Amino acid sequence: MARTMPRSLFRTAILSFTVIALCTVAVLFQERDGRFGIRDVRGLVFQVPFSRSGPGISQLALEEKGSFDRLDLGEEQCREIFPGLTKDLDDAVQRGTFVFEKSNPDYQGLVQGRIKDGKLYILTTAPSNTIEILHQRTAILQQLHRALLTSPTTLPNTHFAFVINDSPKNNSWAFARPNKESSYNTWLMPHYGLWTWPAPTLGPIDTILSRISTLESSTPFTQKYNKVIWRGTPWFNPAGQPNLRKDLLHVTANKSWADVAKLERDRESRKGNVLRIEAFCRYKYVVYTEGVTYSGRLMYHQACESVLLTPPLTWLTVSARWMKPIAAETLMGAHEQVEKNGDSSMGWKKPRELLPTVSDWHDANAIYVKPDFSNLEAVVEFLDSHPEIAQRVARNQRESVVGGGYLSSAAEVCYWRALIRGWASVATIDRSWGIELGERFEDWILRQVVERRDGTRGKNDSGSHDS
Ligand SMILES: *[C@@H]1O[C@H](CO)[C@@H](O)[C@H](O)[C@H]1NC(C)=O
Ligand SMILES: *[C@@H]1O[C@H](CO)[C@@H](O)[C@H](O)[C@H]1NC(C)=O
Ligand SMILES: *[C@@H]1O[C@H](CO)[C@@H](O)[C@H](O)[C@H]1NC(C)=O
Repeated sequence: MARTMPRSLFRTAILSFTVIALCTVAVLFQERDGRFGIRDVRGLVFQVPFSRSGPGISQLALEEKGSFDRLDLGEEQCREIFPGLTKDLDDAVQRGTFVFEKSNPDYQGLVQGRIKDGKLYILTTAPSNTIEILHQRTAILQQLHRALLTSPTTLPNTHFAFVINDSPKNNSWAFARPNKESSYNTWLMPHYGLWTWPAPTLGPIDTILSRISTLESSTPFTQKYNKVIWRGTPWFNPAGQPNLRKDLLHVTANKSWADVAKLERDRESRKGNVLRIEAFCRYKYVVYTEGVTYSGRLMYHQACESVLLTPPLTWLTVSARWMKPIAAETLMGAHEQVEKNGDSSMGWKKPRELLPTVSDWHDANAIYVKPDFSNLEAVVEFLDSHPEIAQRVARNQRESVVGGGYLSSAAEVCYWRALIRGWASVATIDRSWGIELGERFEDWILRQVVERRDGTRGKNDSGSHDS
């Protein structure tokens, strides 16, 4: 459409003025929040909602750290700031449409609910007296509620179901799913610890991240303990690897390069070998072991600038998807310039895993050791004699996970909203749900307050957290 020159110039001038004004407001706003000038990673540029009117003027540089605290990022901003965050959800959408039916409300750990006009409703919650289940499902509903409240656009209406326990339930959200093709349509949801994990050694994720940051800034990698660290319960093992943790204890027993022990705690004296979660970051090498399925510790270890050593994962979680593991054999073989084409001569074909491994250690942020830990000592020796590799892998981990903001509240709400959108786009709500609306989350959460505590705090408060 032909327009006269002066008129289009006039429009451009008005638009430019508007953009400059908006940028100024944005800068002032950031300054007021004390966020200005702490750009320490890479600057980021993303589309702002009002930008669709014209090309070239649509980009606004926003300082990255500030955006990690923001809960109101839009869908495109989320994708640009946190690339790959929703990879597992994209895969889930690819699996296509399915009929989503109502399930028996007594199914262990199950919560069924609805999202309607941006509000959260609870339909069923499985009976349980297990405090962990009650905490975890409440933490998840709080996360979900926050993601809805802060969404810049109204999310689609849908019904949903999630399970807290480890055994997979078809067509539901869960903390973990197998690291291989499966006939279960499981959608990964964020870890409840992103809200909080109310244990003395843990707490809300932001407090843990700040404790880890304090430790990391005063403990350069080269000054960390030159040892492998692990604590845990020897009998929590994956069904397929009943000796996993015992094998670890066995290969590390009385080894000078290991600080590995079964968790011991005396309830009376409250003494034992329990470590605060950030203390693992004092070590150069942190071992991760899966439990009956996943272990909730993974994301905390991923915040350390330490080398994460783990047998190949059999379970995926949201944070496991950020791992870029290199197999120890590849790492050590490649570095010693051993012929690579010898790989298939091992005679053992791995089942196809969903989480890819990398072949160049420059890209790796974790190392896969053998499932029986038989090469753990060799790997530690190798890393000790190649400190530049150890440090690179360690730094890759902390920089990608913490530096990239993947454990921030911004990423968490981005993930939840992507989960709701993706799920709603392929779930066909079955008639079995009827027209029941359910109980508003706001009501449900108040009714969770029972008479166990009178609400007093500060006196005789046994549940208090240290600082
Ligand atoms: C899960 O549900 C989908 C779709 O409803 C179905 O195709 C698949 O076979 C189910 N898987 C299992 C393990 O029941
Ligand atoms: C480790 O050392 C302790 C004490 O020195 C000893 O009792 C134990 O048998 C040793 N364990 C192994 C597996 O060698
Ligand atoms: C605090 O606890 C002690 C011992 O459990 C009890 O005797 C005392 O009455 C409690 N005080 C208050 C204010 O609850």
